[in-house]
Amino acid sequence: MKKITVFLVSVLLVTGWSCKEQKQHSRKQGMASHQIKKEQKVITLEWSDSLEKALKDTAYKAAMITQRVLGKKLHALVKAKGPEHAVEFCSNEAMRLTDSVSEALGLNIKRLAKKYRNPKNETIGKDSIIFKKYILDWLGHHPLPEKIIPDEDGHPVYYNPIKVSHFCLTCHGEPGKTMNPELAEKIKQHYPDDKATGFKDGQLRGMWVITFPQYIMKKR
Ligand code: HEC
Repeated sequence: MKKITVFLVSVLLVTGWSCKEQKQHSRKQGMASHQIKKEQKVITLEWSDSLEKALKDTAYKAAMITQRVLGKKLHALVKAKGPEHAVEFCSNEAMRLTDSVSEALGLNIKRLAKKYRNPKNETIGKDSIIFKKYILDWLGHHPLPEKIIPDEDGHPVYYNPIKVSHFCLTCHGEPGKTMNPELAEKIKQHYPDDKATGFKDGQLRGMWVITFPQYIMKKR
């Protein structure tokens, strides 16, 4: 009997430990877009219009699910407790929620921005060039189409710009105008490097960057 108890306790300890490890692993994955799980099967695909459309549709749905998961929680908190509490939620939960949707869907979902709030969401390298192009197109009143562009390992990556709407100004607007100064102060405490204020309705806030780690695109 004693032996069984010792065995069960050690199993629990080991599984508890590995859960923690897994979490750390997935957090790493959330940050490096092209890292894939070792055991994941990778399929090579050839470009075609219908494939591109299918990838766009899948990634768009994933973005909408993430937006819904984040937005629902955010709206509920702003309404129930005020934006200050929602900011606390964001600083703890936004990344975790995005990562867990990523894990559930087998994709790598990110919201990146040039004027970021969380430095982990900064557009860098090729993503920054793609975002600049969206900004130029937006300034020139051109359409801002969603795109599929492979990363350096060939994994298809979905891009779609995110615009600011009136609701967003509560936390991304101009302090003292559309944004309560106390809230602005609270945000500064949580995000000392915050660059994501001063936005106006309709401006470009950032973009969805969604990587498919399970596919590799053949060169066109
Ligand atoms: C209650 C405050 C609040 C509201 C309202 C809000 N945001 Fe944010 N937003 C935040 C916080 C806090 C973060 C940082 C989250 C994190 O740590 O990952 C953030 C991060 C983001 C990011 C990720 C890039 C970055 O800068 O870190 C995007 C994109 C974004 N918000 C867009 C929007 C849009 C679009 C709206 C309106 C539909 C909106 N937000 C409404 C507080 C808010």
